[in-house]
Amino acid sequence: MFAIFATFLLCLMSVSRSAPLVCEKLVQPLNQLDPHHLEGRWALVAGSLNNLPSMEALRLRDSITMYISNSSETSNFSYTQINRFGDQCQYLHYKILVKGSTFTFDVGNRFELNGTLLYTSCPDCVVMRWIVKSNKRQSEDLYLLSRRREVEEKELDEFKAQLNCHQLPTPVVKDHTKELCPQLPESRPTAATVQIEEKTEE
Ligand SMILES: *[C@@H]1O[C@H](CO)[C@@H](O)[C@H](O)[C@H]1NC(C)=O
Ligand SMILES: *[C@@H]1O[C@H](CO)[C@@H](O)[C@H](O)[C@H]1NC(C)=O
Ligand SMILES: *[C@@H]1O[C@H](CO)[C@@H](O)[C@H](O)[C@H]1NC(C)=O
Repeated sequence: MFAIFATFLLCLMSVSRSAPLVCEKLVQPLNQLDPHHLEGRWALVAGSLNNLPSMEALRLRDSITMYISNSSETSNFSYTQINRFGDQCQYLHYKILVKGSTFTFDVGNRFELNGTLLYTSCPDCVVMRWIVKSNKRQSEDLYLLSRRREVEEKELDEFKAQLNCHQLPTPVVKDHTKELCPQLPESRPTAATVQIEEKTEE
């Protein structure tokens, strides 16, 4: 009986001792952004944020694609996010300004967004952390993006542990069977997409 209790205590101790260590690694922002690694198409696999209406908005999108490309400047990128709602695709275009290990979205003064990349052991993923501030919303967001539509369970588990470390809720995990929207050739928003953009933008 004592032996079992002792073992239990030992396990408990090792869990509580290792948790801060695990978190230390999982919350640490990457201290450099590798532009080549970031470029191209990403699918949003899972995301979580501490703002309920925005979490619901994330849930309502059938799929989210992000295209990041070198905008011919050395340290700035162009960013296109494509949200699918049923058979409609919403295109949002932003410029990303990179400053060391953090990046900001240049969206005029509609809202402020500071981002960093976090550790992930998944080889074809990135984990982005956004701090968003606007009139309507102030939130911390974590997103798991991958070149694949669906990641391994252990990779998703690591992301969930990461959310736990940041005290963020259980993520919205995207249904990988829902189609991604196509990339627009030389993307310029059409009048229709701008309208949707203005309706839903914070
Ligand atoms: C981006 O493009 C510019 C000009 O074409 C090039 O000089 C620069 O090295 C590129 N940067 C990356 C990270 O690919
Ligand atoms: C990135 O964009 C900002 C704002 O438009 C500009 O001031 C800066 O010079 C750009 N950086 C580079 C390396 O082109
Ligand atoms: C983003 O970073 C800048 C510079 O560090 C800071 O002044 C600003 O308050 C930050 N904004 C948010 C939303 O965290």
